[in-house]
Amino acid sequence: MSFEQTKWIWKNGEMVDWRDATLHLSSHALHYGTGVFEGMRCYETPGGPAVFRMDAHLERMIASAETYGINIPYTRDELAEAVCEVIERNGFTDCYVRPICYYGSSSLSVHPRNCPVEVAILAWQWATYLGAEGLEQGVRIMLSSITKFHSRMMPTTAKACGAYINSMLAVREAMAAGYDEALLLDQHGNVAEGSGENLFLVRDGRLLTNDERSSILLGITREAVIKIARDLGYTVNIGLIRLGDLYAADEAFFTGTAAEVTPIRELNGTLIGGGRRGPVTEAIQQTFFAAASGRAARYDDWLHYVARQPIAVGV
Ligand SMILES: Cc1ncc(COP(=O)(O)O)c(C=O)c1O
Repeated sequence: MSFEQTKWIWKNGEMVDWRDATLHLSSHALHYGTGVFEGMRCYETPGGPAVFRMDAHLERMIASAETYGINIPYTRDELAEAVCEVIERNGFTDCYVRPICYYGSSSLSVHPRNCPVEVAILAWQWATYLGAEGLEQGVRIMLSSITKFHSRMMPTTAKACGAYINSMLAVREAMAAGYDEALLLDQHGNVAEGSGENLFLVRDGRLLTNDERSSILLGITREAVIKIARDLGYTVNIGLIRLGDLYAADEAFFTGTAAEVTPIRELNGTLIGGGRRGPVTEAIQQTFFAAASGRAARYDDWLHYVARQPIAVGV
């Protein structure tokens, strides 16, 4: 990933130059992780750049903020407009977009008291998160020694800044051991998710994924993939995933805004299924990318086009 092409950032209602988009060292969020954020992707489509599932992402951010008592001083529609402005001002046709809301500077008591809520939107060019080769060949993952935190410790369904310390420990461990990504178990020893992805298994042509009872973030890509899979005629079961289910799976894949739909070929050195992208994963991947890039009319309402649609006059 690179910020090289990013010139403008939206901060508290204004477009600011990249160099001026700074944070004070006394900001509450820097010390305690007290912020919430989103990650969404803008894809190039025949109708121009479009953000995939923007409404769902902004709604999740508003819900995450509510969980932590952060009052975002903008409506969903105002935020959507700001996202489009950031993409247009930077001249991006495809990019990753990161809205973030956090407590700024006033007090460093753990209680944020009078800290102002700051809102910023960044965008940058980010190719495939787990590599172009990973999308085709599948990635190698490691079972983490780090447990995914339970929702009684911190709500797992809210996408909070501080929560990512847990993910960071897991992904660093996995990469240091030569793997592409980590897989975390929940506190009961069932599979939770990757450091930034949800998990799907395929067995005998049926899909299995878990839900919030396994301490996961309820991914928006996960939800889209459940719909796509059912539309393609597959059965999708939602329930606990045990480690043995993963080892016994014919196919496995990760879903996430950053990782999109990435096959998993190996867990701790053991091949999953044939050790390569399987046919069900490939079919879902193809439909997912068709939907995201505006080539599947039935999913067009998942796209928020960046340029305002021309208004038909005199018809
Ligand atoms: C911990 C975690 N799980 C799952 C996901 C996938 O969520 P989504 O598909 O909404 O990007 C993400 C990415 O945001 C994540 O950080």
